[in-house]
Amino acid sequence: SPVSLIGVPTDVGAGHRGAGLGPDALRIAGLGDALTARGVDVRDLGNLAGPRNPWTAPVQGYRHLDEVVAWNRALMEATYAELQAGRMPIMLGGDHCLGIGSITAVARWCREQGKDLRVLWLDAHSDFNTSEVTPSGNVHGMPVACLCGLGPDALTRLGGDAPAIRPQQVHQIGIRSVDQEEKRLIKQHQVDVYDMRYIDEAGMKRTMEAALAGIDANTHLHVSFDVDFLDPSIAPGVGTTVPGGVNYREAQLVMEMIADTGRMGSLDIVELNPLLDNRNATAELAVDLVESLFGKSTLMRD
Ligand code: ARG
Ligand code: MN
Ligand code: MN
Ligand code: MN
Repeated sequence: SPVSLIGVPTDVGAGHRGAGLGPDALRIAGLGDALTARGVDVRDLGNLAGPRNPWTAPVQGYRHLDEVVAWNRALMEATYAELQAGRMPIMLGGDHCLGIGSITAVARWCREQGKDLRVLWLDAHSDFNTSEVTPSGNVHGMPVACLCGLGPDALTRLGGDAPAIRPQQVHQIGIRSVDQEEKRLIKQHQVDVYDMRYIDEAGMKRTMEAALAGIDANTHLHVSFDVDFLDPSIAPGVGTTVPGGVNYREAQLVMEMIADTGRMGSLDIVELNPLLDNRNATAELAVDLVESLFGKSTLMRD
């Protein structure tokens, strides 16, 4: 289907400045041209506008909550409009708090269309903190919890009803940093987590088979790709690197297996921070992986 690129140049949910430069880093790395070269109809909608980062300390467990809400409201509307227009939205982040707005819109659209939404959360982190347990107050550590109804009304009810999704709809891959109380929450809410130990033991092929099991023609797959999913040795351009991540070959396999389903309907690319990068190499790697998500492979397969 045709694709719309939505730039979301925000770092209001992050702990480092610079994720707001992610959308342009992805453009400069050639994201749009790479998709066009694959025969995809691509429209770049430019960047959304939103409040500047006040860079203040947490208030009642949240940093910059008003700003986070404003960015996510704008993104929710833009995402929903593209889905309604029959186009696949690709969010160019920006920090991962933007998953609240994008997925709230996707969930609403799926509900209206009678589609089954499944979220693949590719990340080093579970992003399931709440204001009570967050070690940082950074909302990019909370989007999955918010989407599942745990969080401030302004975020959990962004789309009207809460929760936007059920924890069982989320399948997380690459996880290797979960805060102490956050562990309790993901266990309690039964999020389907494939952490690095699982991947080491089962291998990425079996991991992806498990995460993709049961997908059918009525499934809408939303892929939320936090670039810190990747090992920092190949993807240094993120604010919250965690060692022991997914390597290049595993990442390609993940993307190719998602492409094989033919069911990806929306995509977030988040947390890219070119200020921390090595000559935009992480953005270039992200573009390479998105090409695989769109079906690029070494050989023709059937
Ligand atoms: N768990 C940490 C926190 O809540 C880090 C979260 C990092 N999240 C991300 N999307 N990079 O502060
Ligand atoms: Mn992360
Ligand atoms: Mn499931
Ligand atoms: Mn994340």
